[in-house]
Amino acid sequence: MANALATISLLLTLLCRSATGVRTKAFSLRSQRRLSDLVAVADDDGICQSMVEPQNYDCEEHTVTTQDGYILSLQRISVRQSGGTTGDRPPVMLQHGVFMDGITWLLLPADKSLAFLLADNKFDVWIANTRGTKYSRGHTSLSPDDEAYWNWTWDTLVSSDLPAVFNYVYHQTGQRLHYVGHSQGTLMALAAFSKEQLLDMLRSAVLLSPIAYMGQMTSPVARSAAENFLAEALYWLGVDEFDLRGVAAVKLLQDICQKTGVDCTHMLTAFTGPNCCLNSTIVDVFLDHEPQPTSTMNLIHLAQMIRDGTISMYDYGDEGQNVEHYGQATPPLYNMSSIPNDLPLFLSYGGADALSDVRDVKLLLDSLKDHDGDKLVTQYREDYAHADFVMGENAKEVVYDPLMAFLRLQ
Ligand SMILES: *[C@@H]1O[C@H](CO)[C@@H](O)[C@H](O)[C@H]1NC(C)=O
Ligand SMILES: *[C@@H]1O[C@H](CO)[C@@H](O)[C@H](O)[C@H]1NC(C)=O
Ligand SMILES: *[C@@H]1O[C@H](CO)[C@@H](O)[C@H](O)[C@H]1NC(C)=O
Repeated sequence: MANALATISLLLTLLCRSATGVRTKAFSLRSQRRLSDLVAVADDDGICQSMVEPQNYDCEEHTVTTQDGYILSLQRISVRQSGGTTGDRPPVMLQHGVFMDGITWLLLPADKSLAFLLADNKFDVWIANTRGTKYSRGHTSLSPDDEAYWNWTWDTLVSSDLPAVFNYVYHQTGQRLHYVGHSQGTLMALAAFSKEQLLDMLRSAVLLSPIAYMGQMTSPVARSAAENFLAEALYWLGVDEFDLRGVAAVKLLQDICQKTGVDCTHMLTAFTGPNCCLNSTIVDVFLDHEPQPTSTMNLIHLAQMIRDGTISMYDYGDEGQNVEHYGQATPPLYNMSSIPNDLPLFLSYGGADALSDVRDVKLLLDSLKDHDGDKLVTQYREDYAHADFVMGENAKEVVYDPLMAFLRLQ
């Protein structure tokens, strides 16, 4: 407990320090970023080459351009080079959450990671990377250094990123797809389905650690950031890209963990809840690739949901601006009860999850109470927290095996 508290205060100190750092040194940070982007391009040819091919899987890099010009990378994993089969392989799209990227699905060893397990089980695996993350930073006219590049929240991931990748995979494969989302990846899907979008290209959806209602969230880091209007403060300081890595906080944490032998799982605990099943080595792997940047505006949107307990579009905080964008004084709600009752859903949640609180999941399930009984599978795992769903040593047995059994029935 004392340890967790110490970690929280360390994190908050780092966050505050980054805020002051950015305030005074915004310019030098930006030049650093440009340099690091160049370096990244030079020694890193993408997720296929760095994470998939070394495990002896075939992998193709694809790019998709959204209607507002963002160039997103997508990876397609095929059967193991040694003796795979071809044939009718249903496409599955994997959508990561906020602060993460497609590597989410590749962090565990190959025999335990969902992306590889799906490929082994004859699914055609497509890994999405949302705008602004390391491998999806391109744009037809903007640069990540431009304020306008970061002018979006998850509403735009719903209206722009998701349809772009769905359309692409649907047309490449000629088949409707299964969707697997984690965290914000579930929110994006639920919001889209509630507006009856994507359904004609969708076969079924899996929601891991679902994020929809967030009013009961217990994560001390997320809640205190929301209640103290941290993202709003950063935004008004002119920080439009929120990147913990850019301000060296993560590097510093990693050094502290490695040099002092402090178990870094505590850092994840402060944010995501007491994950039951993380092997201490995976936190190092995680810190090698994550966290990823997002827009400060997106964090403001998420903070609004934590404070208000509703699932609405972004609130411009000003009736006039809301009217201008939405034709009404308050932002429109996403109505979870509008999700079609016959859509096959598999929803898995954990009793120790500090971000996807059980009471919030119950609210979501309540909105889905008219869902056809045989189309909604729910799985509850008492000891699981937010990161266990993608990084747990036993996630294969606990979540992925039942998940794949569900997909095979759809
Ligand atoms: C952000 O996008 C909105 C439209 O959604 C536009 O009205 C506004 O001018 C944009 N702001 C910036 C700084 O690009
Ligand atoms: C932790 O992960 C490492 C590397 O994958 C592995 O060698 C070790 O057996 C794992 N430990 C446990 C307890 O699963
Ligand atoms: C949400 O959708 C359900 C089902 O379509 C409808 O009965 C309900 O009135 C809607 N709620 C709101 C607030 O619009």
